[in-house]
Amino acid sequence: MKHIVEGLENRRASARLGGGQKRIDAQHARGKLTARERIDLLLDQGSFEEFDMFVTHRCADFGMDQGEKTSGDGVVTGWGTVNGRAIFVFAKDFTVFGGSLSETHAQKITKLQDMALKNRAPIIGLFDAGGARIQEGVAALGGYGEVFQRNVLASGVIPQISLIMGPCAGGDVYSPAMTDFIFMVRDTSYMFVTGPEVVKTVTNETVTAEELGGASVHTTKSSIADRGYDNDLEALLQMRRLIDFLPSSNTEEPPEWSSFDDAERLDYSLDTLIPDNPNKPYDIKELIHKIIDEGDFFELQEAHAKNIIIGFGRVEGRTIGIVANQPMVLAGVLDIDASKKAARFVRFCDCFNIPIVTLVDVPGFLPGTAQEYGGLIKHGAKLLFAYAEATVPKVTLITRKAFGGAYDVMSSKHLRGDVNYAWPSAQIAVMGAKGAVEIIFRADIGDADKIAQRTKEYEDRFLSPFVAAERGYIDEVISPNSTRKRIARALALLRHKELENPWKKHDNIPL
Ligand code: HXC
Repeated sequence: MKHIVEGLENRRASARLGGGQKRIDAQHARGKLTARERIDLLLDQGSFEEFDMFVTHRCADFGMDQGEKTSGDGVVTGWGTVNGRAIFVFAKDFTVFGGSLSETHAQKITKLQDMALKNRAPIIGLFDAGGARIQEGVAALGGYGEVFQRNVLASGVIPQISLIMGPCAGGDVYSPAMTDFIFMVRDTSYMFVTGPEVVKTVTNETVTAEELGGASVHTTKSSIADRGYDNDLEALLQMRRLIDFLPSSNTEEPPEWSSFDDAERLDYSLDTLIPDNPNKPYDIKELIHKIIDEGDFFELQEAHAKNIIIGFGRVEGRTIGIVANQPMVLAGVLDIDASKKAARFVRFCDCFNIPIVTLVDVPGFLPGTAQEYGGLIKHGAKLLFAYAEATVPKVTLITRKAFGGAYDVMSSKHLRGDVNYAWPSAQIAVMGAKGAVEIIFRADIGDADKIAQRTKEYEDRFLSPFVAAERGYIDEVISPNSTRKRIARALALLRHKELENPWKKHDNIPL
């Protein structure tokens, strides 16, 4: 028996070598870890249970039946725990045919996707792969189709996370594109549908891999990636942090962690956060950090559409999603990018029972031909639609401006906001005083005294929270120093909120 057990260990040791020591060394020389090293860092120590370690490809074309078949076939799959909670994980092994996807490789992934869905646990893919295994042709394409189909079925049921850790092309970017979050490692990872050589052939454009699909492009311009990290280690540790914010599935509440931060904590520095001059910016992140437990904020899409901020925090140990206009950038205006960014986040929170706290300081939608031609109407409607359909607890605080359509959009009472607060500095109106007076008192425009008087009248009447509060659109005007306490109490009240939308197959959000 002893030699049989030894035989197993030998087979395992050989499988663990993947494409061989030379390719492992090359992987390390590029600053990348191997698939198994990555999994070990992602999961709790010793918790990984591997599946299908001995699977090999079945391809006989292009001499594939002649060479040695590598056990595992370019992907390591299995499950383990992150801080004690079950997670399914697959990691592409770049040392085996560049991590490319064969028919059997696809079957390993789809088996894992099916298990994750059946067992209602998140699934994380670690990508470092060159797309379809070219030698397998349509068998590989079929394999991707099966993976994509499961991505879609799992969407909104279990969290799906993709971490891009090497050059990824073809199907290895389309599958991540259908997951909830994509993260990238700077300088070693790229995402493109077709690589620089194909681009050169087809469009005669000369472009480097970094310029075409590096983290710097996808975290800023394209917004494909939610964040970039400096190396594999940092990226994997941040994935552990993210998972701690998320529920395992859409039928579970987010996990609750003990917090040492007093929910009743008052913060008097907030009483002077809003500058006297209404056109002067201030950093809304300061407010976010002062509301959430221990200032622990997991920001997403930080480098894209900086005029709106999204991310996870906790209050009384429970996850919340935060959406906040950022007056520091473009005065916090809603434009195409900001609307799309926030809309997707609101929908994620709504899928996974995460209450949404919205901090409002918005001068309106961004005017201009660039925005209108780009479809601001449709993209702005995405955010409106997302808030209106969301049934999770919604707590809103207007700190300063809430003008025009943007007032309605930003989780207003009219879109079933549950608890809507305002600071005394709030200004809730169709538009700012200057624009309003120039329209409704156009006849007085030549008379500076009259205009000044009209402006003052408008400011006194509308640029406060009280007109909205008189109508019940604002539930309470609160002191800035009590914000954390008031939001915590509202969230506690809403813990057992029940609200259902009418039955439908699915909605028709303006895509
Ligand atoms: C088979 C592949 C492969 C692939 C890489 N390899 N990609 N083998 N099929 N798709 C192998 C290489 O032959 C090499 O083998 C090893 O992996 C490492 O590749 P290198 O090219 O040496 O590495 P690097 O220079 O870092 O470049 C990585 C790469 C490049 C950018 C990923 O290999 C590449 O462009 N590959 C092709 C990408 C592609 O066009 N895929 C098809 C997309 S279509 P050895 O033996 O030397 O180690 C697709 C269809 C689905 O995916 C689309 C659905 C929507």
